[in-house]
Amino acid sequence: MGFSINNQQSTINNPKWEPKIVAFLCNWCSYGAADLAGISRLQYPPNFRVIRIPCTGRMSPKFILAAFRNGADGVWVSGCHPGDCHYLEGNYYARRKFSLFKNLIEHMGVEPGRLHFSWISSAEGTKFAEIANEVIKTVRDLGPARHLTKRIKTKVA
Ligand code: FES
Repeated sequence: MGFSINNQQSTINNPKWEPKIVAFLCNWCSYGAADLAGISRLQYPPNFRVIRIPCTGRMSPKFILAAFRNGADGVWVSGCHPGDCHYLEGNYYARRKFSLFKNLIEHMGVEPGRLHFSWISSAEGTKFAEIANEVIKTVRDLGPARHLTKRIKTKVA
């Protein structure tokens, strides 16, 4: 994609750039996995701003758009494995919603690699750290997000 080249150019101009990633983690599973990864001292970079959600079924695509509009370079949504949702079907609804939404944001000019979904149980700290590293690497390779971000105008006095 054309804009990827520009994004790579800007990371070359600013080699210290690090992606900001908003992680929406289900309280019952992936949030626990993040805790377990921390307790187990598994290594993953601190690029995430974690938002704890009651269930992935509660996630609205509007939350994802809001994250991108407010400067996130990537968004990661993670919940319970299919069949393990504490609200029975929340993650099934989420899976359908997100696969449609991922196609939609691609049409809006956002690279699909900026949006990640995963299923991680609270016992999978290692998997959490692995996917966290994978998400960061993918978003870092894409460079800073340029689409959907608010343009903040500053007046020079
Ligand atoms: S309770 Fe975790 S995805 Fe529904």
